[in-house]
Amino acid sequence: MDIIVEKNSRLKGEIEVPGDKSISHRALIFGSISEGRTEISNISKSIDCLSTLNCLKNLGIKIEEKQDLVTVQGDELKEPKNILDCGNSGTTMRLLSGVLSGQPFYSVLTGDSSLRNRPMDRIIKPLKMMGGEIYGRENNRFPPLTIIGKKLSGINFKMEVASAQVKSCIILATLFANGYTRIEEPYQTRDHTERMLKFFNGEIEIRENKIFVIGNQKLKGREIYIPGDFSSACYFIAGSLLIPESEILIKNVGLNPTRTGFLKIIERMGGKFEILNKKEICNEPIGDIRIYYTKKLNGVEIYPEEVPNIIDEIPLIAVLGSVSRGKTIVSGAKELRVKESDRIKSITTELKKMKANIEEKEDGFIIEGVDRLDGAIVDSWDDHRIAMSLFIAGLIADGKTVLKNAGCVKISFPEFFDKFKGLGVYFEISDQKGE
Ligand code: S3P
Repeated sequence: MDIIVEKNSRLKGEIEVPGDKSISHRALIFGSISEGRTEISNISKSIDCLSTLNCLKNLGIKIEEKQDLVTVQGDELKEPKNILDCGNSGTTMRLLSGVLSGQPFYSVLTGDSSLRNRPMDRIIKPLKMMGGEIYGRENNRFPPLTIIGKKLSGINFKMEVASAQVKSCIILATLFANGYTRIEEPYQTRDHTERMLKFFNGEIEIRENKIFVIGNQKLKGREIYIPGDFSSACYFIAGSLLIPESEILIKNVGLNPTRTGFLKIIERMGGKFEILNKKEICNEPIGDIRIYYTKKLNGVEIYPEEVPNIIDEIPLIAVLGSVSRGKTIVSGAKELRVKESDRIKSITTELKKMKANIEEKEDGFIIEGVDRLDGAIVDSWDDHRIAMSLFIAGLIADGKTVLKNAGCVKISFPEFFDKFKGLGVYFEISDQKGE
């Protein structure tokens, strides 16, 4: 599917974004390994979460989807009769590997060509330290992964990369291990797993960047509501900041501080917004965000310690930086090279086509803001976050932008284009097949 978009006039109105993808994965997994029933409302309908759901079904878990409610019947996992397909989803593969390493059976996990080239040594190493037996392609570096379940033991682990997926993998493995685990993070990453573990009656202690988890825990199923996905909301925030006369209200969006680094960045850029109705639901902060068009944003310098809390928003920050006053500098973001695409290369290559003044660096980029972007033929690299970021660039560029391979937005946000349409945004779809 290609999208043809031209410069648009104001975004106006009120929206809700669909349930958070990260939290939805975790709700499905925690529901499966807890005693009793878990009822999940406002779950993400993304393809990535569907990958987790299908893997869990193939592990013998009964999951029912009725209207807007997903019911998971917690149970012992069973040996899958086939390979588990994680699709494009790193979260599915890394979190499930933690769970499966402690089960008394054999399992194999694979994914699409992007996922099969993403690093798995970062989880294989700690899982082996725990006594797990797990193998990967190319000397234990890449999927497919083969796991022969073992009785695990807790570990003391200092993480080299700041990754919530790695942290969550170890926490989940510990739930099936003897003893206890201590994890140290280089920088704080999203803490949805820790919050949800407590919500499901589990025990976990967090002291600064250190996490302590007891092994062999019994969890209890719950009713859980998934807040709107802050990462999805960011595209509407960016669009409203950039398009003259815009003003929108995004309701019931997750405001977990380990996710909302983007708000701090746009605040430094001079962006105008307000947070309203802040409250806590199911152990996660949630609220509304009102955003206003901001005539000229200023360039911003982003530091390595900020990167984990804006990890998925950096391509979008590159779009904002491209039309801001002065320089935008991102460093310490090498992790972007091992996402669904090499996001440093993909966003730099595509924004250059739109005449952005952006220079690729090993661990980030340097952007000199220009007055306007030019429409161009750009490609998503089959990466949902690149597609959505380029769509925003297309909304403010002079002339026509053709966004090739835009169907990948459904990996995290199938409703993306419809939601923009609902706010009065105009664009054309050049191929109705939805591929
Ligand atoms: C995620 C963590 C992040 C993020 C990904 C989702 C999660 O990955 O980029 O989109 O749900 O834990 P890393 O933890 O590998 O940085």
